[in-house]
Amino acid sequence: MEEVYEFLKKCGIYYLATTEGDQPRVRPFGTVLMFEDKLYIQTGKVKNVSKQIMKNPKIEICAFSDDKWVRVEAIAVEDDRTEPKQKMLDAYPQLKSMYSADDDNTQVLYLKDATATFYSFGGEPEVVKF
Ligand SMILES: Cc1cc2nc3c(=O)[nH]c(=O)nc-3n(C[C@H](O)[C@H](O)[C@H](O)COP(=O)(O)O)c2cc1C
Repeated sequence: MEEVYEFLKKCGIYYLATTEGDQPRVRPFGTVLMFEDKLYIQTGKVKNVSKQIMKNPKIEICAFSDDKWVRVEAIAVEDDRTEPKQKMLDAYPQLKSMYSADDDNTQVLYLKDATATFYSFGGEPEVVKF
């Protein structure tokens, strides 16, 4: 899992896919945090992305850096505790102008049953499960 965290941090931006009915939806995301041995992402409950995840928690992430890319498929699980929200905001202080750990909007989700596959041109894919 750490390998996935480090890679996503290095990429800076990853693309998060959800589904809305039979329509795939994808958008850029940047937040990623390791907390209690889980990989967390952050969003706002008011966003469509959040509403889509609440309806269908299957997500996929894709990110690319230095001739290597990763796809992570997982179940996103909401964690409504204050602590991981605060840790996330501390890791991304620029979010504090928009979010706080005790507002009704900030949402953090951890990845469950995740399969990350690292790819490179010409190399064998490397699979990490967490
Ligand atoms: C570089 C970059 C990083 C972003 N990171 C996040 C993020 O971590 N969480 C988030 O909720 N929105 C993030 N956004 C904003 C979302 O991409 C944007 O709100 C998007 O419209 C949400 O998807 P939706 O419209 O389907 O709800 C980021 C945008 C950019 C350009």
